Amino acid sequence: NRHLISAGDLAKDDALLILDTAEELARVTERSIKKLPTLRGRTVVNLFFEDSTRTRISFEAAAKRLSADVINFSAKGSSVSKGESLKDTALTLEAMGADAVVIRHSASGAPHRLATWVRGSVVNAGDGTHEHPTQALLDAFSMRRRLGGLEGRKVTIVGDVLHSRVARSNVLLLHTLGAEVTLVAPPTLVPVSVGTWPCEVSYDLDAVLPKSDVVMMLRVQKERMNAAYFPSEREYSRRYGLDRDRFAKMPDDAIVMHPGPMNRGMEIAAEVADSARSTIVEQVANGVTIRMAVLYLLLGGESA
Ligand code: CP
Repeated sequence: NRHLISAGDLAKDDALLILDTAEELARVTERSIKKLPTLRGRTVVNLFFEDSTRTRISFEAAAKRLSADVINFSAKGSSVSKGESLKDTALTLEAMGADAVVIRHSASGAPHRLATWVRGSVVNAGDGTHEHPTQALLDAFSMRRRLGGLEGRKVTIVGDVLHSRVARSNVLLLHTLGAEVTLVAPPTLVPVSVGTWPCEVSYDLDAVLPKSDVVMMLRVQKERMNAAYFPSEREYSRRYGLDRDRFAKMPDDAIVMHPGPMNRGMEIAAEVADSARSTIVEQVANGVTIRMAVLYLLLGGESA
């Protein structure tokens, strides 16, 4: 594949190749080799139309650790404010020599469109409520490192599924990798299309927790929320928040995940987020490694 747009485009062998390459890169960089020459002379453009901390910085760190040149573009402060279109913005950046464009955009489908306009590789860094494939890859990598394997593992994804590109990408990738996924959410925050997703749906978090190897909490996306979908923060937290009592219902060796940014005290209690069984900080570190693997596999072959 020349692009990475959907986790659903990855066959099991593709996904395992990315995870195994990341494992190899982690071994190399853990031996304190900070920078590899692999992508010297290549240019990666980070094209961010929506805010990001983890994804933008980790793609930048990943590209730099592979010796690529990095151009960071954010819509704020650019000619997008004068009405320049995505296509013209992309063609402008390509004229400056982009071998890969990493795009985050509020419109679902923007990376797919972009791939028809530019010659370089397109990597989806989150498009609207659609997908966030490198998040799913770093989550699978984090699970594999903690649990040893994904085949038959029970992964529970909890919260604002309706607005979550992380949930969709995780369901698709985890299914490919042989895990069993259950989504838990208020009925108003379950997408109507969920019947076609390869997972189970439950509305009873307390019943699902004791059977989970992984509990992944999602951020409540207040910025995309219609008030009609959402009870109150207190009611949400009471029914779907991972507090100390619910955490105690999980098996002793089960792990807690969150893609970040977190609403501490709402979907997850601070003491759960900071516990030894939380992988939240590891997920961020693994994000750099996974993005190195993705850039390496997309660009590392032939020279420009
Ligand atoms: N998990 C994630 O995508 O975080 P950012 O929005 O900070 O990139």
